[in-house]
Amino acid sequence: MTAFPTVELTVYPYDCDAFGHLNQAALLTLLERARWEALARGPGMDLFDRNGVWPAARRAVIDYKAGAYPRDLLRIETTVAQRGTTSLTLRHIVRRVSDEVTIAEAEIVFVCVDRLGRVTPLPEEIARFLGPRTSGSHQPIRVSVGAAELAVEVRGDGPPVLLVHGFPFDRSVWRHQLAALARWKRIAPDLRGAGASSASAAPDGYSIARYADDLVAILDALGVGAAAVCGLSMGGYVTFELLRRYADRVTAVLLVDTKPDPDAPDAKRERDKLAALTEREGQDALVSRLLPKLLARQTQPEVAEQVRDMARRWSVPGLVGALHALRDRPDSTETLPQIRVPALVLVGSEDQIAPPAVAQAMAALIPKAQCHVVPAAGHLAPLEQPLATTRLIADFLETLR
Ligand code: MLT
Repeated sequence: MTAFPTVELTVYPYDCDAFGHLNQAALLTLLERARWEALARGPGMDLFDRNGVWPAARRAVIDYKAGAYPRDLLRIETTVAQRGTTSLTLRHIVRRVSDEVTIAEAEIVFVCVDRLGRVTPLPEEIARFLGPRTSGSHQPIRVSVGAAELAVEVRGDGPPVLLVHGFPFDRSVWRHQLAALARWKRIAPDLRGAGASSASAAPDGYSIARYADDLVAILDALGVGAAAVCGLSMGGYVTFELLRRYADRVTAVLLVDTKPDPDAPDAKRERDKLAALTEREGQDALVSRLLPKLLARQTQPEVAEQVRDMARRWSVPGLVGALHALRDRPDSTETLPQIRVPALVLVGSEDQIAPPAVAQAMAALIPKAQCHVVPAAGHLAPLEQPLATTRLIADFLETLR
């Protein structure tokens, strides 16, 4: 990740509220000052101006973690979390210099606009300063499992964490966690038939058990004995299967927006209807049917676009196979009390597919589980509320060290 020069700024009394704390809006101003300061120390404050463009803030997500007071010296570290063709995401970590306490963490998304306010590609000089594109630039390695070729993104060093996506998503559903969990070796495969992985040749080549076998083959290929396994929804169903058949490969489980129950008969019929629709009309028809249930009301429209893009990267046989695998998945309720490793359960407050009450009941059956509800997220907490979700995941992973 490209780092901006680190900047230290003092909190002044006029930055503080009536109670003497650094005001929440004033923190945004300090972040803005830190960015200008970083530009001044690097390519120059006029970097954007001389290229005829402007970075327009599109989204700001801030975790306020501790108070700061007049005269505190704050160190603001800024890194480029993501760089696309027309957008960039900056991550700020604000620490008090005297005791290294983290005051706040923020992620701010900017789009590059021209003087008429139209979204425009980042000019060459700015792109060079920000570093290589991150969206799509992390090339996966290929792992052969029988006739299938699986794409696996592997990033960083440290204890391994295996990130397993749900349906109909791919490894990019973890884009924020892949960028942010810097102290861990992140292993994020595309399941067979999804993303850049090839589809299974056999029409009956998909099952939750087959996906679990694929993950173990990937760990073997990477020389990883055991990993913390983080499964989103269908990825959670596959995690239960790993726990049943390959418990020694799992050091901890992170169950995100998932549930243990099998499909009821009407849900099985719905899977068959969706499979027929997908065969007839393709990926877009499927995702249009699923989207209303996937996202929270206030989720940014870009996330819906990302979901459409992920679904389009599946092959039709992959989607149909996954629907059959979902329809036929086993009941994992009995697996829960057998889980001996530390467990984290996360659920979006507006998840309609695995609602908070279901997640909390699931966590209650796991001996060493903690459960958190992620506010303002639906079924895709890692993508809808990346900062809060990543923080909960990182804090849990740190307890395993
Ligand atoms: C998923 O996100 O993987 C699916 O919603 C799982 C399901 O439909 O049961």
